[in-house]
Amino acid sequence: MLKTSVHKALGGDVPVHSTIMIQGWVRTRRDSKAGFSFVQIHDGSCFDALQVVVDQKIVNYETEIKRLTVGCAVAVSGELVESPGKKQQVELRAKSLSVIGWVDEPESYALAAKHHSFEHLRDNAHLRPRSNTFGAISRIRQKLAVAIHNYFDKKGFVWVNTPIITTSDCEGAGDLFRVSKLDFANRNLQKTDPINDQHDFFGSPTYLTVSGQLNLECYCLALSKVYTFGPAFRAENSNTSRHLAEFWMIEPEIAFADLSDNADLAENLLQTVARELMEHCQEDLDFFNKHHNQKLLKRLSGLVTSQFERIDYTHAIKILKDSNYSFEFEVAWGLDLQSEHERYLTEKYFRKPVIVMNYPKDIKAFYMRLNDDNKTVAAMDVLVPGMGEIIGGSQREERLAVLDARITNKDVRKELWWYRELRRYGTVPHSGFGLGFERFLGYVTGMDNVRDLIPFPRTPKNAAF
Ligand code: 4AD
Ligand code: MG
Repeated sequence: MLKTSVHKALGGDVPVHSTIMIQGWVRTRRDSKAGFSFVQIHDGSCFDALQVVVDQKIVNYETEIKRLTVGCAVAVSGELVESPGKKQQVELRAKSLSVIGWVDEPESYALAAKHHSFEHLRDNAHLRPRSNTFGAISRIRQKLAVAIHNYFDKKGFVWVNTPIITTSDCEGAGDLFRVSKLDFANRNLQKTDPINDQHDFFGSPTYLTVSGQLNLECYCLALSKVYTFGPAFRAENSNTSRHLAEFWMIEPEIAFADLSDNADLAENLLQTVARELMEHCQEDLDFFNKHHNQKLLKRLSGLVTSQFERIDYTHAIKILKDSNYSFEFEVAWGLDLQSEHERYLTEKYFRKPVIVMNYPKDIKAFYMRLNDDNKTVAAMDVLVPGMGEIIGGSQREERLAVLDARITNKDVRKELWWYRELRRYGTVPHSGFGLGFERFLGYVTGMDNVRDLIPFPRTPKNAAF
């Protein structure tokens, strides 16, 4: 007997009339008056469940089959046959069905009802992967990650695992999570043993990384094309649908490359992996298009076929000012673009992905390359409909004197001695960006809250599970 998955059984990999065994969880059970039951079994291998037909002649029909409820774990063996029903091509005619795990108190099972709000599912993050939506998100997340790694591998990039624990705050923001081995549980710590970083594990203050970029630059200036794909942590107190305290980021870094090469890479990466996804995740994407966002498939084909718009920040400000739209936040040259401004540009004005370039230097990080106008830096943000910013990046300042003038804090200059040294020994123009994995996932699934795009979301006051 062939032990197989629902995906293989439904997908034509298993010949009809084979005897197979599948294991999974009950999605529904319906008893017919004609003396048998239909049990839908899912195992996460694909969107659809396999219909199992159980005859009342099976020994445990009255004692067990008729007690099956949503969520019970079962093993079924039987013959795969063509289905007379319209909804599926094949079904499994059970020879035996054994219960591996019962559901205690079916009424209290969090997924007992047919439909659930996303809030309810978030409160039950341990069970939500069993729902249609979260099964589909998990499979798309997998395919997207593999497509991204493949993209870089084919182009000769090297994946560099930059450290999670760092001593520097890459973005200069200060919204960092502290990493310490000091005994904070001991309430007398401050009195008897004042906090002294030198006594801590690393001998200096350490944090969870906000971005792998600065470390990545070291490898870029040796291997030419590198990237990171890992978690990043930000202790910002932003309770929005686009912010997580722990998220995943893809950061490529390329040598001998300027801002326009950087924008080309971003556009090509997004289009290539979206195309892969449309090829390999059709079933799951159809589900999102049908149930969550009816414009999704149109959005995806627009993404892969149309060229991204590229505009300067200065031009973006003009468009926003001329729009006569009443924005909540002020629009003025020198101020950062707010989410509402980004969304106006990409959703209403251009109606496609937009790359905004060359931002005022005072609102951007110290490492971004100063333009000849002395007012702007070679920064870029990629904005997409429905999500706003999904990529932030720049050409890096490769001239030591100019970099030093941008690092006003002497302690930071001292701490970043190694970063500065890269500019002394064989410096070259180089560029890179960070793509937020959950925001990108939101863009390609049409789901709009990043809390639903990571298995276990971490947000202010919430690190359960
Ligand atoms: O624009 P950011 O802050 O850029 C950097 O970190 C650069 N050091 C990257 C680089 O140049 N190598 O972040 C990059 C992207 C954002 O565009 C957004 O998609 C995502 O990371 N991101 C977040 N996603 C979820 N929750 C948060 N709190 C995020 N902060 C940034
Ligand atoms: Mg940004």
